[in-house]
Amino acid sequence: MTRPLIIAPSILAADFSKLGDEVLSVLTAGADWVHVDVMDGHFVPNISFGAPIMQALRPLTHVPFDTHLMISPADPYLAQFAGAGADCITVHAEAGPHLDRSLQAIKALGKRAGVAINPATPVSAIEPVIDRLDLILVMTVNPGFGGQRFIGPMLSKISQAKALAGGRNIDIEVDGGIDVSTAGAAVRAGANVLVAGSSIFKGDHAANVKALRNAALMTA
Ligand code: DX5
Ligand code: ZN
Repeated sequence: MTRPLIIAPSILAADFSKLGDEVLSVLTAGADWVHVDVMDGHFVPNISFGAPIMQALRPLTHVPFDTHLMISPADPYLAQFAGAGADCITVHAEAGPHLDRSLQAIKALGKRAGVAINPATPVSAIEPVIDRLDLILVMTVNPGFGGQRFIGPMLSKISQAKALAGGRNIDIEVDGGIDVSTAGAAVRAGANVLVAGSSIFKGDHAANVKALRNAALMTA
């Protein structure tokens, strides 16, 4: 099954002093989802923002809010993010001992369920929960900061994740260092959702979204 290419700008790279305008700008530029990076200063070495920020943005648009929880524990906050308007909630496989329970909780809230794997985590870690997933997020940097360099060997993990998904209705998302030089390889490896922070928000949004989409669709 060929899945549509989704461009998901990470608002972590936006100008927070005018966040609503920034979101509307990248959507006008042709982005498909809004990627919301939540960091707790514990699971990752940085703090970003929580559910109230996403809730404030929710009335601006109907496009899916793709919530990437880099927090541990995640379970106590799932209902809060669901209530704040998340469409997909992604937890990290490394964030707690009960991934299966977290995924069941997300589904019980009526949301799409995603699992993210850090660069050092093998794809096999999510094999037992594959039938609960709507999205697999293959991290292509170590999470915590925007603007890092894409880790090349993650391409084989993208392919493995795609193979694991098989014919299931699962998005394969990549996050970290995605720009015009890396998007094509990520898509050829099997990704259909591209998260991009710096490469979309720095400079002209419309030109950046268009360039990223073109690069992603290059076949060689
Ligand atoms: C990494 C975050 C990413 C990050 C992407 O910790 O999950 O979403 O903000 O930023 P860029 O595209 O700048 O690598
Ligand atoms: Zn992210």
